[in-house]
Amino acid sequence: MRLHIADHPLINHKLTVLRDRDTPSATFRQLVDELVTLLAYEATRHVTTTEVAINTPVAPTVGKKIAEPRPIVVPVLRAGLGMLEGMTRLLPTAEVGFLGMKRDEETLLIETYANRLPEDLSGRQCFVIDPMLATGHTLIAAINYLLDLGASDVTAICLIASPEGLAEVEKAIGDRVDVSIVVAAVDEKLNEKAYIVPGLGDAGDRLYGSVD
Ligand code: URA
Repeated sequence: MRLHIADHPLINHKLTVLRDRDTPSATFRQLVDELVTLLAYEATRHVTTTEVAINTPVAPTVGKKIAEPRPIVVPVLRAGLGMLEGMTRLLPTAEVGFLGMKRDEETLLIETYANRLPEDLSGRQCFVIDPMLATGHTLIAAINYLLDLGASDVTAICLIASPEGLAEVEKAIGDRVDVSIVVAAVDEKLNEKAYIVPGLGDAGDRLYGSVD
């Protein structure tokens, strides 16, 4: 597993405003969108390209375009949806799939409650988007789900990760397969309720409001 912490003054500035509990939902959504675009730039560094012959107004030349099969962007519902537009703005030719995952409170296992993905992801580069890598359990389940469908490599883009969650993903995935994680920050710890500290609270609630 490769970890990239995108340490950049613009990212740090936007993340600080995002963390502030007084930042209203509309600003929060806008900042998530902007942060994802900055992180996506880093996360797509190894996207596969192919050479294409074109004609400029001046001369024929050979350039590079994103190769087929197209990459697929997979937001994890619901908070991952808040990152979708920022991601597809940078990668407009990507296909979009969805994964809904939640923890079964009895078995404590992650179960998939919604899925809209191609049945075969052979040779596809997948970008999982989920703002908070907290315990790591959802991300491990999402990565395994995509690899089981044949994905060739998976990059997760998260805003904030916990050290505990990263260690869990490392333990579960290791170097078996090509998995990268791109984050804006790794925070101090998880608290007893599995919130990231200092974090930014519940990302889904801050994006879309509480459902209670
Ligand atoms: N999910 C969130 O939205 N926030 C956390 O801090 C942890 C998990």
